[in-house]
Amino acid sequence: MTMRTRTLGTNGPQVSALGLGCMGMSALYGEADRTESIATIHAALEAGVTLLDTGDFYAMGHNELLIGEALRTAPAARREQALLSVKFGALRGPGGEWAGYDGRPAAVKNFAAYSLQRLGADHIDVYRIARIDPDVPIEETVGAIAELIEQGYVRHVGLSEVGAETIRRAAATAPVADLQIEYSLISRGIERSILPTTRELGISITAYGVLARGLISGHFSADRRLGANDFRAHSPRFQGDNLRRNLDLVEALRKLAEQKGVSVAQIAIAWALAQGEDIVPLIGARSRERLTESLGALDVVLDADELAAIEEAVPADAVAGERYAAPQMAMLDSER
Ligand SMILES: NC(=O)c1ccc[n+]([C@@H]2O[C@H](COP(=O)([O-])OP(=O)(O)OC[C@H]3O[C@@H](n4cnc5c(N)ncnc54)[C@H](OP(=O)(O)O)[C@@H]3O)[C@@H](O)[C@H]2O)c1
Repeated sequence: MTMRTRTLGTNGPQVSALGLGCMGMSALYGEADRTESIATIHAALEAGVTLLDTGDFYAMGHNELLIGEALRTAPAARREQALLSVKFGALRGPGGEWAGYDGRPAAVKNFAAYSLQRLGADHIDVYRIARIDPDVPIEETVGAIAELIEQGYVRHVGLSEVGAETIRRAAATAPVADLQIEYSLISRGIERSILPTTRELGISITAYGVLARGLISGHFSADRRLGANDFRAHSPRFQGDNLRRNLDLVEALRKLAEQKGVSVAQIAIAWALAQGEDIVPLIGARSRERLTESLGALDVVLDADELAAIEEAVPADAVAGERYAAPQMAMLDSER
């Protein structure tokens, strides 16, 4: 299979048009199956996926160790094609509690040292702070990544969930390859000022939550039981009346998917791919079955009429509920 590629930013790496987000293999979406997770990473590499996204705080290093194991046990050629996108900065306690963010230069280098060890890698391809540290100017955090680039430990600077002003300040400090941010049919906020800014500055978007964390995948139902440690158990969009209204949008989308002979997840991913060559969706598949479904979206071409019909079925502002609960929304520079 020949994988379509896209380039991150003007100076960044060429990556597969779909990246694999590995978070759910360790954390936030309930129980995961380690053997199936590793098989999914291997299958993704085999299919030509090159971009693997993780965070050092996804189950406190568990996700990086998992990726490290998957790479160690992959054939050499597959291992060498992998590009690692790593987030840092989120602090955790021994009980898993969240304890703020640390973007001080010394902390950035410390985080990187541990990540390289866990991943079994000699460099990280794109390195980014997950949320800005309100006590540390972005110039200092990005400046520390730039030093790691000079030393050969990192290749490119990335950003995560920041707004237009922070993007400009970061880009004035060092070249930025991509901004990682939530973007989907039901999370369109970046179209106001963030996307115009990244496009002006030649920065790509690695889009997460393209399936709204499963909500618009076509596989989620109102009677699904979620464990207390599942992000979705606390997400406003998955609660009560909001959930029912959002699942009505999915049914409207399902009609269009059926007309086209594709799945709901595929039409949602194809919509994101159709928004521009600068958009690289990060797919949260954690089984080979879901991966295969997601990769099928690469063959789904949506014409202008189909895109308009999708917009009509799922209008930009139709979603019920914010994308995070209030305390987490308050940490999003991108929502200011
Ligand atoms: N920068 C940030 O702030 C940030 C935040 C969140 C995530 N991320 C990154 O972005 C990645 C993707 O985010 P996400 O996992 O929330 O995205 P997502 O793709 O919107 O959601 C993944 C969820 O959708 C469900 N799903 C149903 N059908 C699927 C299919 N065909 N393919 C894939 N998933 C399907 C999966 O559930 P089942 O497995 O239960 O079927 C999974 O729990 C993460 O892994 C992480 O690396 C970054």
